[in-house]
Amino acid sequence: MTTSVETMKQTRVHQVLQTESIGKKVKLAGWVRTRRDSKGGFSFIELNDGSCMKSVQILAEAALSNYESEVLKLGIGSSIEVIGDVVESPGKGQTTEVKAESVKVLGYADPQTYPLQKKGTSMEFLRSIAHLRPRTNTFGAVARVRNEICRSIHNFFQSRGFLYINTPIITASDCEGAGQMFNVTTFDLKDVPRISGEGGAKGDIDFEQDFFGRATHLTVSGQLEAEIYATALTNVYTFGPTFRAENSNTSRHLAEFWMVEPEMAFCDLEGDMQCAEDFLKTIFNDVMTNCGSDMEFFNERIDKTVLETLKHIVDSDFVRISYTEAVDILLKCGEKFEFPVSWGIDLQSEHERYLTEKKFKKPVIVYDYPKDIKAFYMRLNDDGKTVRAMDVLVPKVGEIIGGSQREERLDVLIERMKACDLDPEEYWWYLDLRKFGTVPHAGFGLGLERTVQFVTGMGNIRDVIPFPRAPKTADF
Ligand code: 4AD
Ligand code: MG
Repeated sequence: MTTSVETMKQTRVHQVLQTESIGKKVKLAGWVRTRRDSKGGFSFIELNDGSCMKSVQILAEAALSNYESEVLKLGIGSSIEVIGDVVESPGKGQTTEVKAESVKVLGYADPQTYPLQKKGTSMEFLRSIAHLRPRTNTFGAVARVRNEICRSIHNFFQSRGFLYINTPIITASDCEGAGQMFNVTTFDLKDVPRISGEGGAKGDIDFEQDFFGRATHLTVSGQLEAEIYATALTNVYTFGPTFRAENSNTSRHLAEFWMVEPEMAFCDLEGDMQCAEDFLKTIFNDVMTNCGSDMEFFNERIDKTVLETLKHIVDSDFVRISYTEAVDILLKCGEKFEFPVSWGIDLQSEHERYLTEKKFKKPVIVYDYPKDIKAFYMRLNDDGKTVRAMDVLVPKVGEIIGGSQREERLDVLIERMKACDLDPEEYWWYLDLRKFGTVPHAGFGLGLERTVQFVTGMGNIRDVIPFPRAPKTADF
């Protein structure tokens, strides 16, 4: 039986690179990485379609009807469709190649103006051409690893019976209470309605006239809504974009980032930490198993320690120490820190990195933080000073997970809200969860980009998300 070439199914490059494809006729499409012409009257074209790191070599002979007129004009970045036979490659570096019977040009790219030339492209420059950077080896590999991490995240929770729920992007409550929220409004910013008449609120912005009839923001976390579903359905997770107007221009902060947040009823801090550890190990394992050549690339080109680090983590237990123990270690270690250490401070990244990189050389879970540096919803310990919080710290990236056991006692929670300057009436629905059938529960948030950063060794978080949003940066 013969198939008409028009109706031939497209094959992806990663399939053609398998020896099992030898002898098959295939239709391929992608973008030219290089063209080399031989004196013997034929050309080699490296074709990439993003299905894997490698390109496939296409042999285009002078006998092709458009060889002179079109094939010899193909430069880097041009798009083509090729039909041909997969043959064993006599050349070095590849086992298969495709002997073209036709090369159809879909679109030329002018080599004089195409911004992605082979060499000399810095990460900074590539950020300025975020619409073309996925065509590079590095950004293609980042996209595939990021995809694998997302798949692994869903697999992990789905295989454990967690329900995937979708929490809102637009919200009226502030989960973390850190005042880093972007406002959502349809007001004309040149003419914002103000409260008139007499009284204390006079002159304040009149949000009753706004779209939602109240002040709203982009969410900083889906946790509070996830708690609602966990206290009905037991184990749930939410996974979506979150927004923080932190003015921190660091290599680890974004204004828009993705967070996965499991929430578990009938679970305490111990269970929470165990889940976080199993979760990270599963993700790292899946990436090493399913992204072999991309990970080899990162290990060779970006950070020579990533593979060794990941293997070591998967095979060993995370360290667990209380905040108080962590502070003791930092005070006694003799290291010079820019930010001095004392009980009660928020750990800075230099402190986190000392613990994971120098002291323990593996992930460290720090738990029982002082209540004054953590959010209102964390369960108060009997000492009255610390809460059942936990952060998972990893080498280079620092905090990758933040989580806690939640305060399930109504009276204690109300007191904590007041101490944090939150109005309990605004959170009436959150308090209802404690009034009606309250249960111990816990959860955490894993930053997707910090995970991609850690796994790939990429130095800047802006290079592990397709279109980074950061202070003064929203170009694409
Ligand atoms: O520690 P965070 O603020 O925790 C929460 O939002 C909780 N509500 C999570 C929960 O218990 N359900 O943030 C969680 C993680 C951090 O550990 C970090 O990995 C990531 O989110 N993260 C950021 N990633 C990139 N840019 C930022 N600005 C980030 N802020 C937090
Ligand atoms: Mg945190």
